[in-house]
Amino acid sequence: MHANLETVVLAPPYDMVDLFKSVPSPDVNVYNRSICEVTKQRLEAITNQQWESDQENAFFVGDLGEVFRQHLRWKSLLPRIEPFFAVKCNPDPMILKLLASLGCGFDCASKQEIQQVLDVGVESNRIVYANPCKQASFVRYAAQQNVSRMTFDNAEELHKIKKFYPDAELILRILTDDSQSLCQLGLKFGAPLHTVQHLLETAQQLDLNIIGVSFHVGSGCLDENAFCDAVISARNVFDQAAAMGFNFTLLDVGGGFPGADVKNGITFEKVAAVLGPVVDRLFPADIRVIAEPGRYYVASAFTICTNIIGRRSVTLPPAVEEEIEKETPEQYMYYVNDGMYGSFNCIIFDHQIVEPKVLMKNEVFTFGQDVCEPNFESSVWGPTCDSIDCLNKSTRLPKLEPGDWLYYENMGAYTVCAASQFNGFKKSEVVYTNTFC
Ligand SMILES: Cc1ncc(COP(=O)(O)O)c(C=O)c1O
Repeated sequence: MHANLETVVLAPPYDMVDLFKSVPSPDVNVYNRSICEVTKQRLEAITNQQWESDQENAFFVGDLGEVFRQHLRWKSLLPRIEPFFAVKCNPDPMILKLLASLGCGFDCASKQEIQQVLDVGVESNRIVYANPCKQASFVRYAAQQNVSRMTFDNAEELHKIKKFYPDAELILRILTDDSQSLCQLGLKFGAPLHTVQHLLETAQQLDLNIIGVSFHVGSGCLDENAFCDAVISARNVFDQAAAMGFNFTLLDVGGGFPGADVKNGITFEKVAAVLGPVVDRLFPADIRVIAEPGRYYVASAFTICTNIIGRRSVTLPPAVEEEIEKETPEQYMYYVNDGMYGSFNCIIFDHQIVEPKVLMKNEVFTFGQDVCEPNFESSVWGPTCDSIDCLNKSTRLPKLEPGDWLYYENMGAYTVCAASQFNGFKKSEVVYTNTFC
């Protein structure tokens, strides 16, 4: 039996807290304050500076305590399943150090990610190279570094691996239903079940070592039952392989777990309530079970603060003006200093809807408060010269001025990792805090 969620999250085992506190951060300042206090201090510092260069750049507040809370929640609700954090989701060095200290494994998609994780001091056996189609030289690199566990979903990949890393421990990624997910990865990856026999035979002919099965129900999965169906399919593949003489020892249930920011619909608790029992029912205790959560760990841990660098009042043609409500005829376009080509690429690539909140208005700090003023039809735009660079096409905001600030919560997953520097705008920096202890 394991402790219930409240017990573990509120009073986690001492050794876990000690591990958390011991995360090395010699060269990085980590505050021990709330997100509100950290942003306030940062904005006060900016306001007090006299014409410092780049002083009003957008910035993230990254809460390591929130990542730790998510880890405790995982350990409490899915104790059998070992998390291998999907680095692609947010390769922030502090997050990697924290999760490495807590004993997590890592899902890497490339040589660069493997290198980054090894550099943090993670042993090669805590890495799964979970990209079914790999560059040949990256496979060679994995071999040099003893990163032996890697996924595949096609016969050509088996031939490549035979050539460059014949001793690799292979995980067959199968295609499962991802129709209920925001990002459907099955369009690109996953062996359809009717191809499994051929892949197993090919591996046997090549004398390759397949050790288990993986799947990904799609990122941002909205239906916990997708995990259940996928585990059943994986069980069938285990049986099919056993009949051919394979001895599978690993099940990898992939990613797709919701972040703590999800307020309705699917929750991690619902997924765990389905996934834990089905895994226990279908897989004996000697089968190792791992997962590749990304969003789950980091989505709610990052808040981004953006400065309003410009405003345009929308002047409607007289005929239209007559039609709209008399009380709120004003409409505004706000321009902020991070956008769709930067951290807000999640709007396009990750299908996210982001919600602006007022952080500072006329030098009054308003984090977490409702600004009780008339609000107006508004749109929020990023800083580049491209018109696709729009964060909110239509929202309600009080009348703000250039120099005021907005903030957006739940910006930790698939944001800065895919940000470009299009138009010369730098990636937003992270200020760290720890709201756990
Ligand atoms: C192979 C693989 N594993 C894990 C993940 C992480 O998924 P999520 O952030 O939904 O947990 C992804 C995301 O694209 C992925 O491609």
